[in-house]
Amino acid sequence: MTPPKIPPPEIADLLREDRVFPPPEAFRAKAVPNDPDIYEQADRDPEGFWASFARELEWSRPWDRVLEWKPPHARWFVGGRLNACVNCVDRHVRTARRNKAALIWEGEPGDRRTLTYFDLYRQVSAFANVLRQLGIRKGDRVAIYLPLIPELAIAMLACARIGAVHNVVFGGFSAESLRDRINDAQARLLVTADGGYRRGGVVPLKRVADEALASTPSIERVVVVRRDSGSIPIHMQAGRDQWYHEVMQDAPLTCEPEEMDAEDMLYVLYTSGTTGKPKGIVHTTGGYLVGTYATTKWVFDLKEDDVYWCTADIGWVTGHSYLVYGPLANGATVVMYEGAPDWPQKDRFWDIVERHGVTIFYTAPTAVRAFMRWGPEHPKKHDLSSLRLIGSVGEPINPEAWVWYYRHIGGERCPVVDTWWQTETGMIMITPLPGITTLKPGSATRTFPGIKAEVLTQAGDRVGVGGGLLALTRPWPAMLRGIYGDPDRYVKQYWNTWGSEVYVTGDGAKRDQDGYFWLLGRVDDVINVAGHRIGTMEIESALVDHPLVAEAAVVGRHHEIKGQAIAAFVMLKEGSQPGRLIVDELKDHVARKIGALARPEDVIVAGDLPKTRSGKIMRRLLRDIAEGKALGDTTTLADPAVVAKLKEKYEEEYGAN
Ligand code: WTA
Repeated sequence: MTPPKIPPPEIADLLREDRVFPPPEAFRAKAVPNDPDIYEQADRDPEGFWASFARELEWSRPWDRVLEWKPPHARWFVGGRLNACVNCVDRHVRTARRNKAALIWEGEPGDRRTLTYFDLYRQVSAFANVLRQLGIRKGDRVAIYLPLIPELAIAMLACARIGAVHNVVFGGFSAESLRDRINDAQARLLVTADGGYRRGGVVPLKRVADEALASTPSIERVVVVRRDSGSIPIHMQAGRDQWYHEVMQDAPLTCEPEEMDAEDMLYVLYTSGTTGKPKGIVHTTGGYLVGTYATTKWVFDLKEDDVYWCTADIGWVTGHSYLVYGPLANGATVVMYEGAPDWPQKDRFWDIVERHGVTIFYTAPTAVRAFMRWGPEHPKKHDLSSLRLIGSVGEPINPEAWVWYYRHIGGERCPVVDTWWQTETGMIMITPLPGITTLKPGSATRTFPGIKAEVLTQAGDRVGVGGGLLALTRPWPAMLRGIYGDPDRYVKQYWNTWGSEVYVTGDGAKRDQDGYFWLLGRVDDVINVAGHRIGTMEIESALVDHPLVAEAAVVGRHHEIKGQAIAAFVMLKEGSQPGRLIVDELKDHVARKIGALARPEDVIVAGDLPKTRSGKIMRRLLRDIAEGKALGDTTTLADPAVVAKLKEKYEEEYGAN
């Protein structure tokens, strides 16, 4: 594989902010951990370090070896046996946490539910029985396509309880995206809902699912949660579809958990990469649970009485690791909110923080930038003094947004943890520890103890101070174990650039004189729109699927709120007669094919695309056009006039970004 390109230095310059923020003394004094020596200790004996967290979990059989590393294949806690659901639920029910709130849920319309650990135990057990009764066995895949409601966490934990592999598909994905994921994972059962709420409207999930189900031969059964009380009529197919509340009615409230090997698969989650098809990232039971448990505990300095809110949807990895497995393994009280941050008003999040007394708040930079744009008057309407720690994830946070977040949400009292990681890493990898690390706005600071990362040149040489490519150079417990059904791609994609012991992240990064990491965004063909990963190839194939489109090239460009936006350049088929609305039609087409999150911001219908003499589209130049920058080197172009014309047209239609 050719190594990806190092990002240009001007991106690094955007991230400059000189102030530093040491941990406030009051915070440091009570924080666990607050001893800086733990970094060195973990580095000296990483396996012992991870084992000490593993011992805090419940195993039905202890492991024989912490790590077996045959690059690039790792097995963690070899020989150990445990159940993830038992660790997230049963373990707490047997303690004083039994009647502690596990989930405090709020629906977008304002409906609320609180489930204690004991409630969760009973509902998860009941649904696990339902799954078994519907024929689901250990190792079977179960697809879950739900809004952010408690049943989503319940369904995942029920799968984990009986050893079924869950495959959660974000509720904003289209029928085709759902279909492809179900088919790739060969799921036998689908859990969905009639609908879910978003900005006051109802997303008709079951109808979308029905469209997908027309071509998913592996699905035998569908369980439908009633979320929307009948405002959208849905069709229930006899013999296949059943209502959740009906099958749950008589289900026994206890269910024997399946004893799992540490390396048994826990879930598959699809994410975008550099090739056309999203890949199913495989996570296993023991290492994943240890990694998410440890990072949740230390990064968020989790205490028994915290009220922890991660605003991510469970359809993404952040929701898997830091809304479900990590916090529940810690016995935390987790807040879950179904809807949009600006519904019905722009202070919805702050209203939730105040009403539930949220102490730890974890969100994405795109949300912070939206809050900034809406103005500080919205958080000011609420008492946010319960907050003691705030976090960021999903994309680089620019220093301006960091400082705004620190001041207006954190009240200049809460440490900000900017956490870098990926679907593939399963757990937070680069992050401050709030009781130890001196913060620099815009920097994710340093690796979590036991983790090893480097910035490398394209040739694979270590960069001391400066920019390059981020690589991970030591195995970690929650690392992906593979790509579902594609073992070769796992090796080629991630471990084939600098030898089989070095994991390629696909991100550019800079290291400063203190050894801090500054993440600079993707260096491959992945666009990060509002914290959501989308591959340019996926969007390009959606575009060329339109009957009028001959060729398409997609790039990411800077966007003030979303971080990046999608810019698409399309060439229509010769002789086609596009209507006036072709641009909107193409945007809708992509949204319909993939999901609204992939809708291009800009579509430029081009007479021609800039190509090299050998016919390769030069995306680099398209990026320059979309970013409103001076064009880079055009000497290799077959016809340099094409790109000049395109630049002019772009600026006419979209201005200089
Ligand atoms: C980006 C989300 C800068 C990065 C957890 C990574 C970040 C991709 C940060 C993974 C951060 C995530 N600072 N960039 N704190 N966190 N990223 O798989 O480009 O949806 O490769 O996982 O998000 O996205 P994914």
